[in-house]
Amino acid sequence: MTIQPSDTPLLEWAGDSLAIGLFEDAVELTGELATLDQKFAGVLKELIAEEEFKGKANSTIFTRVGTGGGVRKVILVGLGKPEALKLDTLRRAGAAVARVGKKQKSKILGFSFPLWNNDPGASAQAIAEGVELALYQDIRFKSEPEDKGSQIETVELLGFAGQEAAINRAHQIVSGVILARQLVAAPANAVTPITLAETAQAIATEYGLQLQILEREDCEKLGMGAFLGVAQASDLPPKFIHLTYKPEGTPKKKLAIIGKGLTFDSGGLNIKGAGSGIETMKIDMGGAAATLGAAKAIAQIKPDSEVHFISAATENMISGRAMHPGDVLTASNGKTIEVNNTDAEGRLTLADALVYTDKLGLDAIVDLATLTGANVIALGEDIAGLYTTDDAVAAQLEKAAQTSGEKIWRMPMEEKYFEGLKSGIADMKNTGPRPGGSITAALFLKEFVKETPWAHLDIAGPVWTDKENGYNSAGATGYGVRTLVDWVLGTGE
Ligand code: BES
Ligand code: MN
Ligand code: ZN
Repeated sequence: MTIQPSDTPLLEWAGDSLAIGLFEDAVELTGELATLDQKFAGVLKELIAEEEFKGKANSTIFTRVGTGGGVRKVILVGLGKPEALKLDTLRRAGAAVARVGKKQKSKILGFSFPLWNNDPGASAQAIAEGVELALYQDIRFKSEPEDKGSQIETVELLGFAGQEAAINRAHQIVSGVILARQLVAAPANAVTPITLAETAQAIATEYGLQLQILEREDCEKLGMGAFLGVAQASDLPPKFIHLTYKPEGTPKKKLAIIGKGLTFDSGGLNIKGAGSGIETMKIDMGGAAATLGAAKAIAQIKPDSEVHFISAATENMISGRAMHPGDVLTASNGKTIEVNNTDAEGRLTLADALVYTDKLGLDAIVDLATLTGANVIALGEDIAGLYTTDDAVAAQLEKAAQTSGEKIWRMPMEEKYFEGLKSGIADMKNTGPRPGGSITAALFLKEFVKETPWAHLDIAGPVWTDKENGYNSAGATGYGVRTLVDWVLGTGE
């Protein structure tokens, strides 16, 4: 499928389906659209009246327009109130149209959409992202796909002449989102710590990034007792992945993205019981997936900042070698941790990843982790929790999320709650009381960052969706990649 700008006037465009974006309560066709309606013998006005189409965001209707001058069907898509138009409205509308176009077996699909904020580049990028994200489907694990996929060959964005670069940018970013979706959706017998390291290797080779993989012995030398404690029951080797993108010339900023990389979380000896969702815990490397997805996108975009992509990848398993609940581990900064719950393993792996990254002398670190069920209880399935004491990094991430449409919400770093992590035997416990569980998790992580401005995103909810939602189909969302890319590009400005 190719997405391309088109300078064909609306009235002259020919193809299978023509999609027109309409604002809420402004669906009476005027000007050019009135002329278009005349061309189609008034069926658009009839359709709008019959279907009581109001232009509500994400609503779509369509009709055949006979032989209307080379257009087979017209799709109308609502954009909501004009004053409420966001970039994400265009992205979602692009997705909604793509789904209808796929169902209609369109080959050539035209878009006549308004601009967001008078910005043709951002608008074209958002529409193209919506189309590509909505049409992606994962059939890797089916012997016979029941859905034969879309037949769309060409998507033409009318009025977006000259926006090839924006459309290409969308494609680069989506390739990263799709990588993240594939990594998350793949089961734990397909994506292992070894696979994650191989994926990092493939990105490094394809785009010329530097890669360092620390093996178990390397991690031992660095004193990564927290990470290795989690890894010790698995029959698979842990992999500490450090992929680096370096721009030509002096970097504007030096940044790091760290992702929790648990390719399976059984809970360890505090094993996840029935009804705990243990069978979904292949998703526990969603942070690492977003990190590698962002790496793939950034490697193609080539921004002026240096970016480090890091994940301490392993599984949380049980065996005769497993951590015992109550064990004391020593992290690479010398801090001792009483593991009062082996299922709070993500923070243990992140602790050593944060200590390692903090020593790189960077301008900022963001970590992404499917860290706590408590974050899902607090914010629901769609919104990631943002935890930081650094207002500047918080503002950067909030701005990036505004652009990407991925929802984040800043949560309090209530220092007093650290009391819940006090240990009688070690410097701290890894688990506090149930109330405020996502906050104590973030406060735990903070103990492992001394120098660098840092923020943590708890993505346990949005990494996966049970049902189709906007440009996401049911399954892995690739959450985080687009926000991370916008963050890296934004901080370099
Ligand atoms: N990987 C889980 C968190 C999680 C829950 C991710 C649901 C995605 C969906 C994490 O390792 C975990 O088990 N957290 C525990 C922490 C508790 C033991 C303090 C939790 O949230 O119950
Ligand atoms: Mn766990
Ligand atoms: Zn986990």
